[in-house]
Amino acid sequence: MNGNAVLDIRDLRVSFSVRRAGRKYQVRAVDGVSLSLAEGEVLGIVGESGCGKTTLGRSIVGLARPDSGTISFKGTDMTGASLRNMRLNIRMVFQDPYASLNPRRSIGDSVAEAGDINGFFTSRAERSAAIATTLTAVGLDPSFAARYPYELSGGQRQRAGIARTILPSPSIVIADEPVSALDVSVQAQVLNLMMDLREQLRLSMLFISHDLGVIGQISNRVAVMYMGRIVEQAATRTVLDDPRHPYTRSLVAAIPKPDPSKRILGAIETGEPPSLFKRPSGCAYAPRCPIASHRCLVDVPELRSAGADGRAIACHNA
Ligand SMILES: Nc1ncnc2c1ncn2[C@@H]1O[C@H](COP(=O)(O)OP(=O)(O)O)[C@@H](O)[C@H]1O
Ligand SMILES: [Mg+2]
Repeated sequence: MNGNAVLDIRDLRVSFSVRRAGRKYQVRAVDGVSLSLAEGEVLGIVGESGCGKTTLGRSIVGLARPDSGTISFKGTDMTGASLRNMRLNIRMVFQDPYASLNPRRSIGDSVAEAGDINGFFTSRAERSAAIATTLTAVGLDPSFAARYPYELSGGQRQRAGIARTILPSPSIVIADEPVSALDVSVQAQVLNLMMDLREQLRLSMLFISHDLGVIGQISNRVAVMYMGRIVEQAATRTVLDDPRHPYTRSLVAAIPKPDPSKRILGAIETGEPPSLFKRPSGCAYAPRCPIASHRCLVDVPELRSAGADGRAIACHNA
């Protein structure tokens, strides 16, 4: 594994059994993902809806149970026992702040919840002071501690959702589409807040989004996911300027660019959007891919390193 990785994931698999039209299916939401996150790094995870991003994030914080694979935090495998302590080190920000804030609890109580459960505060005064400091850090007045979620705007609620994850201060934040549900005008403010916090608290971050434009603003490195697997991974600039995997190319082509000479010609996708109920036997992208060959229909491409810049790609023809 990578020596200075705070998080190292090897061959992670998470599946769900679901019933559809009277038949039982095993849906492979995460299908063999390996990645590592360096100290202080922001790794963007991008891919379309249903490709397994949220399941990946939930399994890292212990909310979904992996079938197999390992998740190591600073070199210690956390798929085993002492999860409690680990969970304070890795916290998750959810897309919908409504879902992560209990409507019947005050903002202050929600923000202090992890600290309360883990006996982090030694006195009422210390607890109140920590709540006030944390609210201030996310740009909310300390008086918000006494308010309830329904009294807050979408942006304020997401700030409170972020405050919940940084008390006590974690090592890693997993941000799952943290701005996707917000008005465009508020998105940039919340992104800026996350970048400030990352620096102040020296956080490492997995930043999940379906929007490569948003990922490009905040990530050092990007991993592109398709049907539960990583298909391309590289430094953010490399992915944006020189995408190689045909799926990455189509994502990059979809980002609006003011300078026509900087446009990347997207491969025109041909087939249908994927269904996890009908997983192709070869490369999962092959049915949509404009450069697929016969081999792609039968042989799953492994993620292999390609080039000196740390790029890895899973494609037979790129
Ligand atoms: N609790 C669950 N039970 C059954 N299927 C699930 C569950 N959670 C996710 N899935 C399925 O797993 C796949 C990946 O979902 P998800 O991780 O939410 O993707 P994303 O976040 O990229 O949109 C989808 O097909 C979804 O329907
Ligand atoms: Mg999701």
